[in-house]
Amino acid sequence: MAKNPMRVLVTGAAGQIGYALVPMIARGVMLGPDQPVILHMLDIEPAAEALNGVKMELVDAAFPLLKGVVATSDVVEACKDVNIAVMVGGFPRKEGMERKDVMSKNVSIYKAQASALEKHAAPNCKVLVVANPANTNALILKEFAPSIPEKNITCLTRLDHNRALGQISERLKVHVSDVKNAIIWGNHSSTQYPDVNHATVASNSGEKPVREIVADDNWLNSEFITTVQQRGAAIIKARKLSSALSAASSACDHIRDWVLGTPKGTWVSMGVHSDGSYGIQKGLIYSFPVTCENGEWSIVQGLKIDEFSRAKMDATAKELVEEKSLAYSCLN
Ligand code: NAD
Ligand code: LMR
Repeated sequence: MAKNPMRVLVTGAAGQIGYALVPMIARGVMLGPDQPVILHMLDIEPAAEALNGVKMELVDAAFPLLKGVVATSDVVEACKDVNIAVMVGGFPRKEGMERKDVMSKNVSIYKAQASALEKHAAPNCKVLVVANPANTNALILKEFAPSIPEKNITCLTRLDHNRALGQISERLKVHVSDVKNAIIWGNHSSTQYPDVNHATVASNSGEKPVREIVADDNWLNSEFITTVQQRGAAIIKARKLSSALSAASSACDHIRDWVLGTPKGTWVSMGVHSDGSYGIQKGLIYSFPVTCENGEWSIVQGLKIDEFSRAKMDATAKELVEEKSLAYSCLN
């Protein structure tokens, strides 16, 4: 029997990530090839004409799974009954700007949209915040939408996770799908800690630890980490625009794995509210390794953390604590 359509909200849908993301959702990349969708696209009034152009293109593409499109600048209409909310809307970082510079512009948007989601989204709506500062926007959304369960509010660090897999695959000249279980700890910022201590590479003779195969601790402990940390800035420098197709694709990976589950033996990175695991302050939205089953994520427990990792995990947590107080000072 055909499934009922799921309603998927994309805010900032007239922007560049939105333009890459909505056709992926309409093709089933996010929720599966048998899941019909109704797209809710929100953007601000000055972008209304462009948003309508995106709607026209969605109609023209004749996607079999796409059962309807709502294109609006009314946040209440946009949030009505949505099952999934992908929050991309906001002000992007431009060349030379630090993520903190975009903070004041974006946290107030997330405070306002928290109430709309809380009041109008479907019960158990899953929320993914993409717009930067992603962890802190998600934190603000969580704190100003107290009736949405904490476990339903997440932020995107899957792009960083995928970047880490990509760097290992390039270095070892193996296919990226053979590399797994990297971890992004912490903030989606240059303090994030890409950790390959538990990552493996599949080969004919089974799975081998990345550290064993790369055998160059110097590279893994320095250049690899900074390349992943700085990848967003490198894309901005090259494109004069922030990453879009990789962000859209990773947003689909995040929701797909959350809703449909992670493959056995594989974890992914998601920004989720901390329950105190690994000594990270409770309540922060921090990126952890997670597995997903039956539409719920759980933090992978019991991983051995060495001194090098501990220092980096704490440094990125410290930045999140600072961002939180900066966000509140911007809101006041
Ligand atoms: P963009 O400027 O092309 O698009 C943003 C869109 O949001 C615009 O169309 C704008 O009109 C709209 N917008 C602004 N205020 C809004 C509001 N209050 N409600 C709804 N829409 C609103 O930017 P982009 O390149 O698509 O990037 C979007 C965000 O995603 C940025 O904050 C960027 O820094 C972030 N980003 C995050 C990641 C990640 O991995 N977490 C990766 C790439 C980009
Ligand atoms: C990215 O990681 O590509 C984006 O978050 C852009 C940025 O602001 O760093």
